[in-house]
Amino acid sequence: MSHIVVTKESCRRMAKDVARALRQKVVSLCRRLGIGVCLRTLVLIFCLTFFWVQMHMFDVSDNDALQILTKPDGLLDANDSMLQLVPQRLHKFLVSPPQRDRLHQAILPGNSSLDHSVPISLNASEIRQLIDQYNVRQTVFNEEFYGPLQNDSLVIVIQVHTRIMYLRHTIVSLAQAQGIENVLLIFSHDHYDEQINELIRMIDFCKTMQIFYPYSIQTHPNTFPGESPEDCPRDILKSDAIKRNCVNAMHPDQYGHYREAKFTQTKHHWWWKANRVFKELDILSNYSGPVLFLEDDHFVAEDFIYMLKLMERTASVVCPQCSILSLGTYLKTYNFYGEAKKDILKVIRRQQIFAAELTPPSWSFKIVPSFTHYNKAEISQWISSKHNMGMAYNRTVWEQIVNCADTFCNYDDYNWDWSLQSVSNNCLSHEFKTLVLKAPRVFHIGECGVHHKKSCFDMALIVKVQKLLNSVTKYLFPKKLEVSYGPVKKKVLRKGNGGWGDVRDHKLCLRLVNRIT
Ligand SMILES: *[C@@H]1O[C@H](CO)[C@@H](O)[C@H](O)[C@H]1NC(C)=O
Ligand SMILES: *[C@@H]1O[C@H](CO)[C@@H](O)[C@H](O)[C@H]1NC(C)=O
Ligand SMILES: *[C@@H]1O[C@H](CO)[C@@H](O)[C@H](O)[C@H]1NC(C)=O
Ligand SMILES: *[C@@H]1O[C@H](CO)[C@@H](O)[C@H](O)[C@H]1NC(C)=O
Ligand SMILES: *[C@@H]1O[C@H](CO)[C@@H](O)[C@H](O)[C@H]1NC(C)=O
Ligand SMILES: *[C@@H]1O[C@H](CO)[C@@H](O)[C@H](O)[C@H]1NC(C)=O
Repeated sequence: MSHIVVTKESCRRMAKDVARALRQKVVSLCRRLGIGVCLRTLVLIFCLTFFWVQMHMFDVSDNDALQILTKPDGLLDANDSMLQLVPQRLHKFLVSPPQRDRLHQAILPGNSSLDHSVPISLNASEIRQLIDQYNVRQTVFNEEFYGPLQNDSLVIVIQVHTRIMYLRHTIVSLAQAQGIENVLLIFSHDHYDEQINELIRMIDFCKTMQIFYPYSIQTHPNTFPGESPEDCPRDILKSDAIKRNCVNAMHPDQYGHYREAKFTQTKHHWWWKANRVFKELDILSNYSGPVLFLEDDHFVAEDFIYMLKLMERTASVVCPQCSILSLGTYLKTYNFYGEAKKDILKVIRRQQIFAAELTPPSWSFKIVPSFTHYNKAEISQWISSKHNMGMAYNRTVWEQIVNCADTFCNYDDYNWDWSLQSVSNNCLSHEFKTLVLKAPRVFHIGECGVHHKKSCFDMALIVKVQKLLNSVTKYLFPKKLEVSYGPVKKKVLRKGNGGWGDVRDHKLCLRLVNRIT
């Protein structure tokens, strides 16, 4: 026993020594710096320590779920614990196939002269050629198993950029939905990527189709709608731009910035794809039902198709004027130009997720409102920031939107949803009404937005949404919807976020729906 006492004793003595040394250092430092600076320094040190502990605790609490993936394609190890949450038959979407050196070839629909192996690095004109073929052929896969499209089928359109790691999980969630076998799943791409094509070609649970936005940055690397050397730099002054004689000198946005191709592409793509689906695809020519629009980082609940049908039936009785059905609601944070703002928002969001861990079951953090409303829906005016996720509408509604093409295409905002808000507020005879679920059936798993890509893939969030959905299964598939009326707000006239001042963008946008030639 004695040696323990000795140890304790010596420890205490050592601690005392250290404390005395520290005190001496602090006192001498304070003498030199003055008492004010000294106090401030101490407070700073305290704060830093406090935050470090906080962040450290946060890391620990998230540890079970946090498996940072280093692979950009988001593939998991065959024994990754994430896979326990996913049925065996769907593992193929998440893990790499056994033979790693498969032929890298351009997979084309049907049989054609281009069907043989093509080199993996395609140049822009080759990609354009492939895209044209896809778009001309309009091949529907798995139609032989699942039969033709009916009016009571469902068409889902997913806008895909480059983020395959999210798309894998989106597909896994779709595969588990009840009624998915009656769906036509259309992937709309603005980036041609063999790996993504391969992933989509593996889908065997419903009919699929791929369409390609033909005016992408990828296929126009040095010319509009991509960035050309004659374009004005974003931050140049208008007077300098005119002196420089760059091509869009006369058309900065309302905040004085010039166009950035990557920001405008998403709005163009959104606009093109809806028109393509409703007006140009042969398979939809007799289809009069709703089309549900999702993105490549949306995760759906098992009953989302059932809920959409239930909403459709309910709306026809209680709200025939509701033209948009919305499966989700969340507070979207916009990708404003300011990076700093974004970082602050990220911190806030993280804290909310952390807070939610303390109060399970947690449909209560920001992206997941309370699930006590599992059978409730609300009628309200359509608000872009709340109702832009998991939106469904039919051809009649699309025709109303296209009739407002001038409003949509000339509104100085690079966000499609704010532009649609402008259509609703400033062009339609009655603004859009929506029926929206209070407990969402669509979740946003790509928290970082399109512009960050690989750097912030958050596996923890995906695991959380999966676990959450597993824990609320008994609330899914409610027999009927309880509908209430949301608060009526005054029309807000917004200025728009800019980024859409270039007349070339306005013209392209109008051309995409054949409003000018
Ligand atoms: C997972 O599999 C890899 C090989 O595929 C192996 O090296 C590793 O030890 C496995 N990890 C666990 C926890 O089983
Ligand atoms: C492509 O396939 C169709 C039927 O599957 C066939 O009729 C046609 O001859 C084929 N074309 C070529 C070029 O092989
Ligand atoms: C693209 O590649 C094809 C053949 O591989 C070639 O004929 C063509 O000139 C290339 N185009 C450009 C713009 O490099
Ligand atoms: C769908 O309904 C519309 C109008 O009700 C009808 O014209 C069309 O033929 C139907 N299409 C199919 C595939 O049943
Ligand atoms: C649409 O309906 C017309 C007339 O009934 C029919 O001729 C056509 O084949 C149908 N199209 C599709 C894609 O089913
Ligand atoms: C499309 O939706 C609107 C609004 O919900 C509805 O009034 C209209 O009848 C629908 N159109 C068709 C063809 O079903």
